[in-house]
Amino acid sequence: MKIEVFDDQKILHRRAALVIAAELTTKSAPVLGLATGGTPVATYQELIRLHREEGLSFAHVRSFNLDEYVGISYEHPESYHAFMKRQLFDSVDIPDDAWQVPDPNNSEMLARPSLYDELIEAAGGIDLQLLGLGNNGHVAFNEPADSFSEWTTRVALTESTILANSRFFDSPDEVPREALSMGIASIMRARKILLLACGESKAKAVKAMVQGEISAQCPASVLRLHRDVTILLDRDAAMLLEA
Ligand code: F6R
Repeated sequence: MKIEVFDDQKILHRRAALVIAAELTTKSAPVLGLATGGTPVATYQELIRLHREEGLSFAHVRSFNLDEYVGISYEHPESYHAFMKRQLFDSVDIPDDAWQVPDPNNSEMLARPSLYDELIEAAGGIDLQLLGLGNNGHVAFNEPADSFSEWTTRVALTESTILANSRFFDSPDEVPREALSMGIASIMRARKILLLACGESKAKAVKAMVQGEISAQCPASVLRLHRDVTILLDRDAAMLLEA
């Protein structure tokens, strides 16, 4: 794991955007794995700036998102489909049919979520997977558990994730209780992984991920077994790490 700690979040997001941009400029058909949530928003803003001001093109990109809520439609503003359109895809030149999120409204995918992994595989596999980190150590919606889920699956969200995500809804009652989420194996197959974590609320999870035991109780800890992972942290997220 390469770990970089930043005093200034703006520089952290610029660095993240440059890692993503490098995939776009060096590959003829890059496949991205993207994340939603609060953390990557500033990275996506920087990518949009690079597109508008420096000619970074997404015309040749394929993209697969990590997860999507079950039980709300794509039109719901907090669906991850709507989030990605609003935060990134409506503002860059990616073709409409070149990006997708797991689709709970597709009955075939809901019945057999690993169909999503087959689509990723058919696209050539993910070159760069962007990840956030849950306060409880989750990546995508792989919540702390007794064993690692492997491929894309239907998951129940934990109370701590429902609470954390309720900031995007009018009340915790409105947060969907289930999601389709890429599994740990889906994520570990990516050729390169970039994880971003900012803020004090992530400090415990960062410590467990980097210096705790590798365990399904902290799903992100398994990333230590991947050979190309970069972690970008702000000072608050890094505050519990021992040198
Ligand atoms: C989002 C996702 C989640 C988030 C995590 C952190 O697609 O899969 O694992 O990355 O919950 O969320 P934020 O960035 O809102 O703190």
